[in-house]
Amino acid sequence: SRRGLFGLLGAGAAGAVVGAAAGAGVAVAVTGGADASGPAASVYPFFGEHQAGIVTPAQDRLHFAAFDVAETLDREGLIALLTEWTDAAARLSQGLEVAEGGAVGGSDYAPPADTGEALGLPASGLTITFGFGPGLFADAEGADRFGIATRRPALLEPLPRFQGDALVPEISGGDLCIQACADDPQVAVHAIRNLSRIAFGRASLRWSQLGFGRTSSTSTTQATPRNLFGFKDGTANVKAEETATVDEQIWVNASDQPAWLEGGSYLVARRIRMIIENWDRVQLGEQEQLVGRSKGEGAPLSGGTEFTEPDFEKTGATDAPLIGTDAHVRLAHPTSNGGARMLRRGYNFVDGNDSLGRLDAGLFFLSFQRSPQQFIDVQRNLARDGLNEYLKHVGSAIFAVPGGVAEGEFVGQALFD
Ligand code: HEM
Repeated sequence: SRRGLFGLLGAGAAGAVVGAAAGAGVAVAVTGGADASGPAASVYPFFGEHQAGIVTPAQDRLHFAAFDVAETLDREGLIALLTEWTDAAARLSQGLEVAEGGAVGGSDYAPPADTGEALGLPASGLTITFGFGPGLFADAEGADRFGIATRRPALLEPLPRFQGDALVPEISGGDLCIQACADDPQVAVHAIRNLSRIAFGRASLRWSQLGFGRTSSTSTTQATPRNLFGFKDGTANVKAEETATVDEQIWVNASDQPAWLEGGSYLVARRIRMIIENWDRVQLGEQEQLVGRSKGEGAPLSGGTEFTEPDFEKTGATDAPLIGTDAHVRLAHPTSNGGARMLRRGYNFVDGNDSLGRLDAGLFFLSFQRSPQQFIDVQRNLARDGLNEYLKHVGSAIFAVPGGVAEGEFVGQALFD
């Protein structure tokens, strides 16, 4: 097995280990430089049992990109692309230029290998996570250009239509995806820009999304951030330290199919527009009822503090449950969904404004789960969510995220074995 190769590979900079080691060498941050305690100094190993960027403590910034493969691409071309992407991603996540010789070296007669805008910047906790969309396994006409149609995970289907969906095809789907997370937006954008450039002629950007301000915690070492509704988001998220839950709910394991996806996960992306001008006219008490938690502390309305388990049975003076029947946390809670959980890793976005002067703002929801069904069950249950009046799902995509990469391999290599 290749598993024995994994250690703390790639943790090159000198300094103290500050992150939580969840999942063999994935979420280990090594600090160095002037601000040894700051997130900008974090370097995460690219190689490991699982891809980085999942249980890694959520960074502050996101650039997410979905690609369509070119009609002319064949199996060898796809393998070459994944190999070049892997090499570049391994270097970028260590704070190196995309290739040796990078932005300044090489010939005066050719453009530099690296575009240069991250020169001199630290790795800033950059993680690069790759995923494969349903369309990679057979194109719209059903042609199997890459010889992988029979290896498509049966669960990797476009998501079903959900009540209230207002999906825009141009910002949905994709054959391949790359999630780049970092604590510096310049670093995340540099990664997507250079990986898109490498793909030139083989895969083209279908849609992409910038995110600022993580809307989730994925480690108990992190404080809970807030989403654009002003509420703490990520309180009850699956955390890296809950290793038994992560194994049971997030990673595809040996008892699942197909075998090549072992150690991987399924990634759901939803661009959820928030109608914040309307939200901002809602009374505080009503906002809290819709969520099921207090706005300041993030405590469940059944009482206690932020991390107190909600008590959905508890009633108030009127015999009505303190956490209402259409409150988001009740409907999303595992007790309402056959125990299903997910690792949420979304970001806030504001992409200017529409022609009516309303901010084009919301939550770019990202979740990782062992089966897409976990997301589907929760999202179906959220059809009754009182928050929906202030939400519009406009983009949607699903990807199979291969397991981790060992040095000398390319991402998803087992799919082609
Ligand atoms: C919990 C907001 C969309 C699944 C929460 C919490 C907030 C929140 C404030 C409570 C704090 C926490 O535990 O993280 C939002 C907003 C959304 C949104 C503003 C849309 C813009 C979604 C979607 C899903 C989802 C689309 C999945 C289909 C969950 C889950 C929990 C949660 C599983 C934890 C429930 C628990 O175990 O207590 N959300 N959410 N959310 N949300 Fe959302």
